Amino acid sequence: MNYLSSRSGIVLAGGNGTRLAPLTSAISKQLLPVYDKPMIYYPITTLMLCGIRDILIVTNPHSFELFKALLGNGEKWGVNFGYAIQDKAEGVAQAILLAEEFIKNNSIVIALGDNIFHGNNLVNLLRYADKRIEGGSVFAYPVSDPQNYGVVQFDKEGNILDIKEKPDNPLSQYAITGLYFYDNSVFERVRELRFSSRGELEITSLNKHYLNQNLLNVDIMGRGIAWLDTGSFDSLQDASGYIRTLEQRQGLKVGCPEEVAWRQGWIDDKCLESLSVSLMNSGYGEYLLMLLKGLK
Ligand code: DAU
Repeated sequence: MNYLSSRSGIVLAGGNGTRLAPLTSAISKQLLPVYDKPMIYYPITTLMLCGIRDILIVTNPHSFELFKALLGNGEKWGVNFGYAIQDKAEGVAQAILLAEEFIKNNSIVIALGDNIFHGNNLVNLLRYADKRIEGGSVFAYPVSDPQNYGVVQFDKEGNILDIKEKPDNPLSQYAITGLYFYDNSVFERVRELRFSSRGELEITSLNKHYLNQNLLNVDIMGRGIAWLDTGSFDSLQDASGYIRTLEQRQGLKVGCPEEVAWRQGWIDDKCLESLSVSLMNSGYGEYLLMLLKGLK
C-alpha cells in the first residue's frame, strides 16, 4: 500500500446523539459498538486508507476522556491524534473551526464519526479526490431515503444544480456522504456562513459556498460501495449486521486500523504482534497474528 497524503484529517465525533437515546445518554454515539469494534474505528480507518496520518478528533465535553483512553496519541497505529472539544453541537461546519490550529496550512479531509464506507473501488476514489488541489470534493450516493441527508440535484448533463439539507421533497436520490475533501480556504468560508434555522453551521452551506464559485466536485459512489450511516437504532443494527456478515464470510476485518497501519508500513511486524497481546481473549488479537503469518 504505502500511500501518503499531504492532507490532515478531522473525525467529527461531537454532537449529542439524541436520536439514539438512551444508548447515548452516558456515552458518545461514536464509541458505541458496530459489531466487533467501536464506531469511530471505521472513519479513522477510512482516513488512514487515504494516507492520512495527522488526525484531529473532535468530541463533546463528556466523552473526551473516553476517546483519549481508547485512542491515545495514535502512536500505536503509526499516526498522530490531536483532540478538540466542541462545547455545543452547533453544526458540522462549526466543528471545523476548532481544527484551524491543528491543520495550519494544510488541506483537509473530514470524516463524520458515524459514517462507514466499504467497497471495491473505495480507495481509488479517495486517492483520486486527494489529488485535487483546489476546491472541495464530496461524494454522492443513491439512497432510498434522501430526505434524511444533504441531497444533490444534477441537470441532464450531470452538472450540479443545487444541494439541499434534508429537503421535504428531494429532487434526486443522491445523498452527500459524510466524507469531505477541502482546500485550506475552508476556514475563511466557514467564517462567512450563517446559522441555519436549526441553530447549526451546516456542512451543506459550506458545500454550497464552494459550489457557488464552481469549486465543488461531486463524485458518484457506485453501487459496488457500501455507505452506511449509523444514526438510528435500525441503521446501527444494520451496520453491525453488514460488518458481521462480511467478516464471517471472508475471515477479513472491515475497518481495522491496526491492519491498515501495518499494510501502509506505518508500524512493523513487532508492533503488530505487541498490539495483539491485549486483544487475544476476543479473537481480535488472533486476527492480527494471522496477518503476520500471511494467512489473510
Ligand atoms: O451522514 C451524512 C449526512 O451527515 C449528510 O448527508 C448531511 O448533509 C449532514 O448534515 C450530516 O447530517 P446528519 O443529520 O446525519 O448529521 P449529524 O447531526 O448526525 O452529525 C453527523 C456527525 O457529525 C456525527 O458523528 C456527529 C458529528 N457532529 C454533529 C454536529 C451537529 C459534530 O461533531 N458536531 C456537531 O455539532
